[in-house]
Amino acid sequence: CALACGLAHAQTYPDKSITMVVPFAAGGPTDVVARMMAIPMGKSLGQPVVVENVNGAGGTIGATKVARATPNGYTIFLHHMGMSTAPALYNKLNFDPLTDFEYIGQVLDVPMTLLARKDIPANNLQELIAYIKANESKVSLADAGLGAVSNLCGLMFKSAIGVNINTIPYKGTGPAMNDLLGGQVDILCDQTTQTVPMIKDGRVKVFGVTTLKRLAALPNVPTLDEQGLKGFEVKVWHGMYAPKGTPAPVLKKLNTAMRFAMADPTIKQRLADLSSDIPSADKMTADGLKDHLKLEINKWGPIIRKAGVSAD
Ligand code: MLT
Repeated sequence: CALACGLAHAQTYPDKSITMVVPFAAGGPTDVVARMMAIPMGKSLGQPVVVENVNGAGGTIGATKVARATPNGYTIFLHHMGMSTAPALYNKLNFDPLTDFEYIGQVLDVPMTLLARKDIPANNLQELIAYIKANESKVSLADAGLGAVSNLCGLMFKSAIGVNINTIPYKGTGPAMNDLLGGQVDILCDQTTQTVPMIKDGRVKVFGVTTLKRLAALPNVPTLDEQGLKGFEVKVWHGMYAPKGTPAPVLKKLNTAMRFAMADPTIKQRLADLSSDIPSADKMTADGLKDHLKLEINKWGPIIRKAGVSAD
């Protein structure tokens, strides 16, 4: 009854709450975006959208869980560009980003910021680099594990300045940020969806942004590129997925709900205040996401393989 049952299901869908899996810890940048979207998406769908944090291994545990979930529209997934870096980072991955998912659409582009604990004895990037070089065996960099964008940004930074400092993996940059605020770790590269309020409150020191242009939300913070790390650029794109086999009419409702959430004036303002960009309408589609994912897998694969980084 595949077709008839699928249509009947789509007509009554959703008749219970929907779980949105986030593959990182609560309170961090991906979680911030998910919780912002959950309420308006629930409004559009007529049922609550409940965020579930399935943390660990740089987002790959959450992705595996979603790839294996029943494809009925009651499990959806918000992830970032880690979907495109994981295949090159992990020799044994329990999911394939290109065959195990349905694509709902691109969601958001988020810049990153290079931060250090508030009391680090450096006041600009050159002083920070000098401090790291003089204390290479002691300085620690927090990240959210291999596959996380904080990890990628950290690897790029270490390679750009030619140091090999100790990396401490967390289950998300939410807990990594807590330890940066507490002074237990020294450096963190993290997304503006979490960092802008901390920077504005002076709770962390900021040393640069990872875009080639300065950010409207942080106009006085120079780019890493303009400070001498030429071409240093990371913009974190996000996408929304469902398990492979989720019926097309259900995916359509989910896409409508996703776009409804991103058109919400309050969300638009909050995201603008965090210098995060909502993609154009053509990118907020299944093809827009899948095409971008393919491009990104092809972009990052060779870079990661050349850097010789892998988990096993
Ligand atoms: C998070 O939500 O914790 C971050 O997106 C992790 C990361 O750095 O990729």
